[in-house]
Amino acid sequence: MASVSFFLVGFFVLACVVVLGATQNNSDGVEMGMEKEELLGLFEVLDALLDDSNWAQQHPHPCTETPWPGVECEVGQDPPLFHVTKIHVGPDILNAPCKSSATLSHSLFKLPYLNTLSIFNCFLKSPVTLSPTLFGGALFPPLEHLALDSNPSLSGEIPPTLAKIVSLKVLSLSQNMLEGKIPKEIGGMILLEQLDLSDNNLSGEVPLEIGGLENLTILDFSLNGLEGQVPCSLGQLQLLQKIDLGSNRFMGSIPPEIGKLKGLVLLDLSYNFINGPLPETLSGLENLEHLIVDHNPLNTEIPQFLGTTLRKLQTMSFSVCGLTGPLPYSLSSLKHLSALSLDNNSLTGSVPPNLGKIPSLDHLNLSNNQLSGELSFPEDFINRIGKRLDVRGNNGLCTSNHLYRKKNISVYLETPLCLNSSGHRNDKIFGDKNPNGLKRIRPSEHHIMESSEAPPCLNQKVISIFSFLVCCSLCFLMFL
Ligand SMILES: *[C@@H]1O[C@H](CO)[C@@H](O)[C@H](O)[C@H]1NC(C)=O
Ligand SMILES: *[C@@H]1O[C@H](CO)[C@@H](O)[C@H](O)[C@H]1NC(C)=O
Ligand SMILES: *[C@@H]1O[C@H](CO)[C@@H](O)[C@H](O)[C@H]1NC(C)=O
Ligand SMILES: *[C@@H]1O[C@H](CO)[C@@H](O)[C@H](O)[C@H]1NC(C)=O
Ligand SMILES: *[C@@H]1O[C@H](CO)[C@@H](O)[C@H](O)[C@H]1NC(C)=O
Ligand SMILES: *[C@@H]1O[C@H](CO)[C@@H](O)[C@H](O)[C@H]1NC(C)=O
Ligand SMILES: *[C@@H]1O[C@H](CO)[C@@H](O)[C@H](O)[C@H]1NC(C)=O
Repeated sequence: MASVSFFLVGFFVLACVVVLGATQNNSDGVEMGMEKEELLGLFEVLDALLDDSNWAQQHPHPCTETPWPGVECEVGQDPPLFHVTKIHVGPDILNAPCKSSATLSHSLFKLPYLNTLSIFNCFLKSPVTLSPTLFGGALFPPLEHLALDSNPSLSGEIPPTLAKIVSLKVLSLSQNMLEGKIPKEIGGMILLEQLDLSDNNLSGEVPLEIGGLENLTILDFSLNGLEGQVPCSLGQLQLLQKIDLGSNRFMGSIPPEIGKLKGLVLLDLSYNFINGPLPETLSGLENLEHLIVDHNPLNTEIPQFLGTTLRKLQTMSFSVCGLTGPLPYSLSSLKHLSALSLDNNSLTGSVPPNLGKIPSLDHLNLSNNQLSGELSFPEDFINRIGKRLDVRGNNGLCTSNHLYRKKNISVYLETPLCLNSSGHRNDKIFGDKNPNGLKRIRPSEHHIMESSEAPPCLNQKVISIFSFLVCCSLCFLMFL
């Protein structure tokens, strides 16, 4: 979550650095200037923010001879005058950029060509609000990008009037102290492509009107106190690529409409109070790469379709979700999976050895479940994944040292030895057995089989008297 928003910020900053107005004379050789009123407006806006009372003296021609990295200009056509198109204040421009009494000046109204306003890490002490007379006032410049991020003293509510800036494509208000509800009027900002309200103190339900943001690709409401259902109207936003609702108080089940989002790449619902089961429609998320649902009381089984339909999954995270039942063999069909976290659930049955054949799997956490049987991952997988394989805390799970050449696998994985592992290599492996022990199945057939509970010792068909005795005494010991 954090890394994604970090990426966004980076992208945003990068995208904003591109335009730098020409600083030469135009073709007529006439020196170009600025409207006095606009220049004055820029001075006033920066004077209200910066801890530098000489800014205007040092930058009398901010679009030409005396530029400043946080201000960008473009030349208008007729008349050929410079206009301020971007103001950016943040730690990448100045070390301690803003004065402690920094505030947003109404002189923004004097910058009719302003396209981008981004202010990071600026309002640190004295309270600043998104005043309705400023944001959404009739003279507010037709911004496309508004980003006021990481301002700990930016507080108060998001005014409904903000939605009057209908020109906005990017609205980012993350990491502030905003509170109150998300105004339903936001649903009218139809050009909006990115909406990031993460890491504030917003509360109440997400308005269904959010379904009006047809061009939205990124929605991040994580780390707030939002509650109620995950709005089903999100299903109307066909261009969505990222939904992050993590760390809120959402409840109820996942609306089936979410499954219509064919372009969705990331779905993060972690740390909420969402119940299961997962709707079957989620199988429509054919481009989903990251499914992060940790810490929700799903209390359901892992549905088979996750493995058979979400072919592009790279991350699947269901830690602490109350999951029950077996680990579906179908999961091993997820060829791009690199991280699978299922720790702290109540999963039962054996561990499909084919999980170890997923070429990119680099993190597998199955710790603290009730998995059982002999672990029989391929050795190259054990070697490759190293300590990013965690199977601890599964009482019924055991390992056999004879399956692996190099390591004392039992010690290495912190799991008990299987009962007759001291013997030579044998090819009967608990994880390979089908539920009734009727027929030995080939590895290639695993994906169509469901795993089953295979507690050590109880599922073997042919067993020597010797190993039977060893087995029973060990079981007895374990029971104690
Ligand atoms: C514009 O042209 C004039 C006359 O040629 C010259 O004196 C002046 O320095 C030029 N200004 C810029 C910004 O290049
Ligand atoms: C979405 O964006 C496209 C251009 O990117 C634009 O043509 C279209 O009108 C926008 N949709 C809405 C609902 O504004
Ligand atoms: C967040 O808002 C709630 C009221 O909705 C308030 O009780 C709480 O103190 C706020 N948290 C912070 C950190 O300001
Ligand atoms: C996971 O399970 C272990 C063992 O039961 C427990 O100590 C730990 O607190 C659990 N972690 C979470 C996040 O619930
Ligand atoms: C697996 O999850 C547990 C929490 O249940 C955590 O303590 C442990 O560090 C994780 N293991 C790995 C390898 O990430
Ligand atoms: C593995 O280590 C355990 C504990 O140190 C030891 O009892 C056992 O004999 C070792 N097994 C092998 C095959 O080295
Ligand atoms: C124990 O080893 C014998 C052969 O040495 C094999 O027939 C038997 O199936 C093994 N039992 C288990 C539980 O692996």
